[in-house]
Amino acid sequence: MSKQKIAILGAGPSGLAQLRAFEAARRAGVQDLPEIVCYEKQSDIGGMWNYTWRTGLDKNGEPVHGSMYRYLWSNGPKECLEFADYSFDEHFGRAIPSYPPRAVLKDYIMGRIDKQAIFKYIRFECPVRWVTYDEGTEKFTVTVMNHQTGEQETNEFDHVVVATGHFSTPNMPYFEGVEQFPGRVLHAHDFRDALEFKDQNVLLIGASYSAEDIGSQCHKYGAKSVTISYRSNPIGFDWPQGMEERPLLAHFEGNTGYFADGSSKQFDAIIMCTGYLFHFPFLPDELRLQTHNCLYPDNLYKGVFFQNNPKLIYLGMQDQYFTFNMFDAQAWYARDVMLGKIALPEADERRQHMQQWLSRHEALAGCHAAIDFQASYIRDLNNETDYPEFAVEKQADLLKEWLQHKQENIMGFRENAYRSTVTGTMASKLPARWLDIKDDSLESFMSLDFVENKSFDKVD
Ligand SMILES: Cc1cc2nc3c(=O)[nH]c(=O)nc-3n(C[C@H](O)[C@H](O)[C@H](O)COP(=O)(O)OP(=O)(O)OC[C@H]3O[C@@H](n4cnc5c(N)ncnc54)[C@H](O)[C@@H]3O)c2cc1C
Ligand SMILES: NC(=O)c1ccc[n+]([C@@H]2O[C@H](COP(=O)([O-])OP(=O)(O)OC[C@H]3O[C@@H](n4cnc5c(N)ncnc54)[C@H](OP(=O)(O)O)[C@@H]3O)[C@@H](O)[C@H]2O)c1
Repeated sequence: MSKQKIAILGAGPSGLAQLRAFEAARRAGVQDLPEIVCYEKQSDIGGMWNYTWRTGLDKNGEPVHGSMYRYLWSNGPKECLEFADYSFDEHFGRAIPSYPPRAVLKDYIMGRIDKQAIFKYIRFECPVRWVTYDEGTEKFTVTVMNHQTGEQETNEFDHVVVATGHFSTPNMPYFEGVEQFPGRVLHAHDFRDALEFKDQNVLLIGASYSAEDIGSQCHKYGAKSVTISYRSNPIGFDWPQGMEERPLLAHFEGNTGYFADGSSKQFDAIIMCTGYLFHFPFLPDELRLQTHNCLYPDNLYKGVFFQNNPKLIYLGMQDQYFTFNMFDAQAWYARDVMLGKIALPEADERRQHMQQWLSRHEALAGCHAAIDFQASYIRDLNNETDYPEFAVEKQADLLKEWLQHKQENIMGFRENAYRSTVTGTMASKLPARWLDIKDDSLESFMSLDFVENKSFDKVD
């Protein structure tokens, strides 16, 4: 029998988790591993964590994937995204604070990758153009544009793993009068540098993580005022002077925004923090996941196997309290199914199983329940694979503390420290207020004089 062939689409944290899962199996002595090809649109690994100055199109004329910006720091504690098979201690050799900047987290994610072992599977600058499935041969055909050779390539695979992310294609609503607005109008996807908005009155539309974080960045780097306009509910933090929330914007007249409560204000710039669309332009309708940002998208058995065709696997498609360790949980489970170690049930049974999770999902009341729900989803996956045990329920408790710390002080929550559930190490603390640390480079951050918190002491 010929070797199974697997295509992984995307080499961000999810795609890398899948590659790492197979690598772990190889190291464990598993024979006859499938042939793997990973197609990546960018010229490096890291997905969203690759900061790019570009907006719009990349050097090959492809839509820029990156939505991250300068001065972005982790918005959740690093202790809740720690890989169970590669700790922060192993990477940095000492305790570091709980909320590192982007470059520091990227360094950690990349540190786990054995480049020699993994890079040979990855085809860079190869955006996937089209995927089809043939019921007769039971194979997928994947067509990519190879920008390195200037030619399209087509190959057949037994499984396709879609790991292309879902925070890249802007959801850009229309507001009456916006076309006449005299200043900058952009989506969070194209936001790169808060200094651009220094001394400006900035309007952010949306009331979730992007609005909260981009608003905080603009405040930190000297915006004159930041107004956050919410559709459903205000974020509700005790914002510092110069930041406020207002109900949804109704329309613009020139540079004046009018809000649903009848109030108005003049602005210099508008940033739409209105979330992202699930966008798979390379998939036909019968293979395309259609959902919105939520904790349990329908039609994904175990959160990964596409119901219409479970040989098509989606990683990382959930809204994310947990990130890297959840992608690992999914990738290890998917690997074991692809290797035949775990048998997939029939369609009816898969539907029933999904239905139970969807009902639980629908009944969730509040953020704490949502965090516990995602933790139990991860536990459900990890129970069946050899991914190293980690205390996901304790991490869920840390996420609840994180919510509380944000509530107490939205500009200072990153000054808190938490204990690793993987190594027991207590994080060190920032030596200054987050608001006052303005250089977010790896070198600058690692040269800070962290305040040690009984470093490397273990939990009993
Ligand atoms: C602004 C922002 C800040 C965030 N901050 C945090 C944070 O602080 N902590 C945290 O844990 N998470 C954060 N996240 C969540 C982040 O999405 C995840 O951490 C993680 O990057 C998701 O990994 P992924 O591999 O699923 O997707 P991505 O990281 O988006 O990677 C997808 C990969 O697929 C490639 N790709 C896309 N289309 C194609 C195609 N057609 N062909 C080939 N390749 C393709 C892309 O180039 C990319 O490399 C943030 C997200 C955003 C948008
Ligand atoms: N520093 C960081 O780590 C950082 C920073 C930014 C983002 N992120 C990550 O990026 C991901 C995406 O976050 P996100 O905030 O961009 O998206 P999101 O969580 O999906 O939130 C989208 C927001 O847009 C609002 N919205 C959508 N359509 C709208 C419309 N027509 N009019 C008004 N409001 C509208 C939604 O309002 P409703 O509530 O009414 O639906 C919601 O508040 C998250 O995983 C987050 O963790 C991380």
